[in-house]
Amino acid sequence: MTQQTIRIGIVTISDRASRGEYEDLGGPAIRAWLEEALVSPWQAVTRLVADEQLEVEVVLKSLCDDEECCLVVTTGGTGPAPRDITPEATRAVCDKILDGFGEQMRAVSLQYVPTAILSRQMAGVRGSSLIINLPGKPSAIKECLDAVFPAVPYCIDLIEGPWLETNPEVLVAFRPKHAKKPGE
Ligand code: MTE
Repeated sequence: MTQQTIRIGIVTISDRASRGEYEDLGGPAIRAWLEEALVSPWQAVTRLVADEQLEVEVVLKSLCDDEECCLVVTTGGTGPAPRDITPEATRAVCDKILDGFGEQMRAVSLQYVPTAILSRQMAGVRGSSLIINLPGKPSAIKECLDAVFPAVPYCIDLIEGPWLETNPEVLVAFRPKHAKKPGE
């Protein structure tokens, strides 16, 4: 990938927030977490969409393909309720599913709340973009990102995205010793 501006998609998936019936707390919580954790300069590309599978698929595709986001983080719609379709939309647009993300997020979340098993959150790769689902609750966003983000920069290296650096005082990203920043 030649583009060097790091762009990250943040997608809130919620009928009520999209109708303005309540404030979107999830999208800003993801943004605040990333602002703390990342030292590489980056731009947020934010979207707020109803729990409609085709609409969510269109948003995810556009963030990956047109907006060139190397990472897209969604919040909401991962549970078992009839309108929860985020994992289905994610699966439909991904080329590869990374099962370890969902496994790890649920395992860690179970230390906080027994209902963590209700989340079908997952992650996958579309082209050079990594898509990660998070539950809607702001506290779940931090719990899940803390659990999986150490592996995210290297995952983005492997899918030929930009080099992401984290603030090691907030979160240490793991890369194998042989991983080299392009140009070094
Ligand atoms: N994970 C964490 N870390 N913390 C939480 O509070 N809530 C659970 C689960 N995962 C929760 C969590 C609950 S109650 C539900 S219903 C599911 O996430 C799905 O949430 P969503 O539909 O908002 O995506």
